[in-house]
Amino acid sequence: MRIVVLVSGTGSNLQAVIDAVKAGELDVDLAAVGADRSGTYGVERSAAAGIPTFVVDFKAYSDRSAWNAALTEAVAAYRPDVVVSSGFMRIVSADFIDVFGGRYLNTHPALLPAFPGAHGVRDALAYGVKVTGCTVHWADAGVDTGPIIAQEAVPVAETDTEETLHERIKAAERRLLVSTLRSLAAAPQSPN
Ligand code: GRF
Repeated sequence: MRIVVLVSGTGSNLQAVIDAVKAGELDVDLAAVGADRSGTYGVERSAAAGIPTFVVDFKAYSDRSAWNAALTEAVAAYRPDVVVSSGFMRIVSADFIDVFGGRYLNTHPALLPAFPGAHGVRDALAYGVKVTGCTVHWADAGVDTGPIIAQEAVPVAETDTEETLHERIKAAERRLLVSTLRSLAAAPQSPN
């Protein structure tokens, strides 16, 4: 199973995938890592691991649809079976989903459909939930929507800040992403 991983930031979830592949615990071909801006640590650590990288800088395009077309083309060049949005903070448009729909995986730091969006951890904490968690799902062109594949619950502590809670959720997210990819590699499936 060939995968392309998209990141916008530090890529610690991506690192878990890289580590699992290197340890022989995950049998996928990490074809490339892409980002929506230059200078991300996610791209830096991928290059250090010898993985091909690319940047389709959102700011370099006149509009969202031009950026989306460039992203679709850049990802397609690596002929992935599955595309993983791992801390990729951009919503892709229907054109991208036309090509990769049903094989575009997203990880989200909340128990969807609760708390979608860029601040899932902050919103869950503000709401006062006692349990939150993470979700791996097939993504569509919506904001954190699409069929859920796996979830893991994470209890909220009285003393949690957004940072401490997010760190514990990310530990669960890493496990869930690697185990989901392992299952998909063993028995490829998608909603299509
Ligand atoms: C993850 O919690 C992801 O779900 C969220 O941002 C975080 C990215 O972390 N959207 P990292 O870049 O993998 O360290």
